[in-house]
Amino acid sequence: MQWPAGPPKHLILGHLRELRRDRLAFLSRLSSEYGDFVPLQMRRRDVIFINDPSYIEAMVFHRAGDYSKNNLSDFFQPAVRRLLLFEDASSWLDQRRLAQPALRPDRMPAYAEIMIKSAQGMCDAWRETEVIDVATAMRRFTLDILARSLFDLDLAEMAGDAPAIFDAILEDVGARAFSSVYLSFLPTGSNRRSLARFKQGEKMLDALLAKRRPDAEGRRDLLSVLMLNRGEDGELMDADAIKLVVVPLMFAGHETTAMALAWTLYLLAGNPEVADKLRAELETVLGSRPVTGNDLRALPYTGAVFHESLRLYPPIWGFGRQAIRDTELGPYPIPAGTTLFASQWVLHRDSRYFADPLRFDPDRWSNGLAAQLPRCVFMPFGVGPRRCIGSTFAVLEAVIALATICRRFDLEPVAGSEPRLEPLITLRVKGLRLIARRRPHGAKGETVSAMGERDA
Ligand code: HEM
Repeated sequence: MQWPAGPPKHLILGHLRELRRDRLAFLSRLSSEYGDFVPLQMRRRDVIFINDPSYIEAMVFHRAGDYSKNNLSDFFQPAVRRLLLFEDASSWLDQRRLAQPALRPDRMPAYAEIMIKSAQGMCDAWRETEVIDVATAMRRFTLDILARSLFDLDLAEMAGDAPAIFDAILEDVGARAFSSVYLSFLPTGSNRRSLARFKQGEKMLDALLAKRRPDAEGRRDLLSVLMLNRGEDGELMDADAIKLVVVPLMFAGHETTAMALAWTLYLLAGNPEVADKLRAELETVLGSRPVTGNDLRALPYTGAVFHESLRLYPPIWGFGRQAIRDTELGPYPIPAGTTLFASQWVLHRDSRYFADPLRFDPDRWSNGLAAQLPRCVFMPFGVGPRRCIGSTFAVLEAVIALATICRRFDLEPVAGSEPRLEPLITLRVKGLRLIARRRPHGAKGETVSAMGERDA
């Protein structure tokens, strides 16, 4: 069957202009005006926007072998490209296998301890009525946890401001994905700046690897395990091979969770009745003791708040795959080279699956909704063989963070300041500031005086 007609397009840029202008609104409009299979063009390439869960299921499960992960490959210099994502099919599986043991459930109790300490440390540092730049605070928090948990590393020991450097790299990567010109091999100012930033990050890592190598023996963290790992040829992994595993984990593992937490705090600040209900659950389950890693199951409402936030503001708002051979999708032919693109943002807000979809309503998850939905509708952590390997880690971290923050603080919106959505690689939030007000009773181990000062 012939492809249906897509929306009108620019002769050279195709639909890039619309995607640059307001991509979330554009994609949402496409699904309501053009249906679930919408042919688009980006820089003369065919990109099909698919919005039918059965098409997504075919792409990632039934015909997964016909597609590869669309890695935006031409956007970056090869040095950047190689390290940023688990790249081609042959090395991807090896890298995933090497990373996975560090994220197994039996490792979570030890990580929970780190998360609790880090959450308490962050809250200790917040002053009464301080205006918190939430995205920055959450990035520092999640990167600190990731570095300590997976790499047994204190970020303060690294030369340079690691969170700021990583943030700049991600912003650059995301901006390039939607720029109209992206000749990554040319020595333009922007290409040079981007490469310099990346090299700065890589230099930090090289210093770290050199420092760790002599005392990797006997340590359990992923960095040390990789350093002692011998390949089939009996050789130890070199620094480049280790970075191929570590760098994607650093990026994928902190920015996503940071944005998820930032959006959740934003939603709680705007929906005080939900925040009250969450605190009531914390009080009933925890009493005056601090949250621990074993409390997750006993805090279903706190978990539902996070779920609902992932639905409305999915940190990964869209994903693509590229056909590597001629194939089919439903009734349509898909020639090799075509990119298929699906969007969590659009599907998670589709009234065919979610009643009153724009409402922040954690209770919608209480009656088994997750099990009733088609397989590829709610997919904040992706689906199929390339599903997120850090979802258990992320949920544990989020529940611990929410429980710790919400018991100690009310985070209130700053009057007149509305945060902006910035959908780059992740769904970033810009300009989200919240005022921290101490609550009268914090968790065990601290009381709050009438002056709002904490006593030990
Ligand atoms: C709320 C937090 C998180 C969200 C929403 C999230 C979301 C996702 C999504 C949607 C994908 C699949 C992308 C695709 O199919 O193209 C993915 C992949 C991945 N995630 Fe996460 N993630 C989160 C946290 C984490 C954490 C904490 C880690 C590590 C500690 C992690 C590591 C990874 C890795 C390594 C991949 C690539 C897997 C592969 O290609 O095989 N993520 N994530």
